[in-house]
Amino acid sequence: PPVSIIGAPTDVGAGHRGARLGPEALRIAGIAEALVARGVDVLDRGNLDGPRNPWQPPVEGYRHLDEVVQWNRLVMEAVLAELRDGRMPIMLGGDHCLGLGSITAVARHCRETGKELRVLWLDAHADFNTSQVTPSGNVHGMPVACLCGLGPRELTHLDGEGPAIQPSVIRQIGIRSVDEGEKRLVKQHGLDVYDMRYIDEVGMRRAMEEALEGVDENTHLHVSFDVDFLDPSIAPGVGTTVPGGPNYREAQLVMEMIADTGRMASLDIVELNPVLDSHNTTAELAVDLVESLFGKSTLMRD
Ligand code: ARG
Ligand code: MN
Ligand code: MN
Ligand code: MN
Repeated sequence: PPVSIIGAPTDVGAGHRGARLGPEALRIAGIAEALVARGVDVLDRGNLDGPRNPWQPPVEGYRHLDEVVQWNRLVMEAVLAELRDGRMPIMLGGDHCLGLGSITAVARHCRETGKELRVLWLDAHADFNTSQVTPSGNVHGMPVACLCGLGPRELTHLDGEGPAIQPSVIRQIGIRSVDEGEKRLVKQHGLDVYDMRYIDEVGMRRAMEEALEGVDENTHLHVSFDVDFLDPSIAPGVGTTVPGGPNYREAQLVMEMIADTGRMASLDIVELNPVLDSHNTTAELAVDLVESLFGKSTLMRD
């Protein structure tokens, strides 16, 4: 389908400033041109315009809750409009709190069209904190919990309806940093987590086969790609690096296996922080991986 690029230049959910520059870095790395070269019909809708980052300490367990709500409303409306128009939204963050707005819209579109939703959450982190257990108050550590109904009502009912999803629609890949209280919640809610220990033991191919099991013609596959999923040796341009992530080849395989399903219908690219990058190489790597998500392959046999 045709693609619409939506920039959401904010870092109100993060603990470092700079993710607000992510959309421009990805544009400069040539994300639109790369898709056009793959034969994709691309419209760049430009950037959403939300509140500035006031850079305040957390209040009652949340930093910048009002601004986070406003940005997520904007993202939700923009993503929903593209989906209803039959287009594939690519939301360029911005920090990962924006996955809440994006996936709330996707879940609603799935209810409207009778599609089954599957969310692939590619991340070093589970992002399943709540205000009671968060070590930081940063809402980018909370979007999965909010999507599943754990969080402040403004976020768990972003579209005025109930929580957007059940934990059973999520598959998390690449996880290697989960806070103590967060870990309890992840277990309690039965999230399906393919952590790095599991990936090391069974290999990325089998982990992905399991994560994609059951995806069929009626599935809307949403990919939420937190760039800190990648090993920091290849992707230094993020605020919350964690060693021991997927290497270049494993990351390519992930993207190729997603492409092979033919079911990806929406995408977030978040947490890219050009201030911490070296010569935009992390943005360029993200674009390289997006090409694979859209079917670019080094395979000699097909
Ligand atoms: N778990 C940590 C926290 O709650 C880090 C979250 C990082 N999230 C992200 N989307 N990069 O603060
Ligand atoms: Mn649709
Ligand atoms: Mn994340
Ligand atoms: Mn992360």
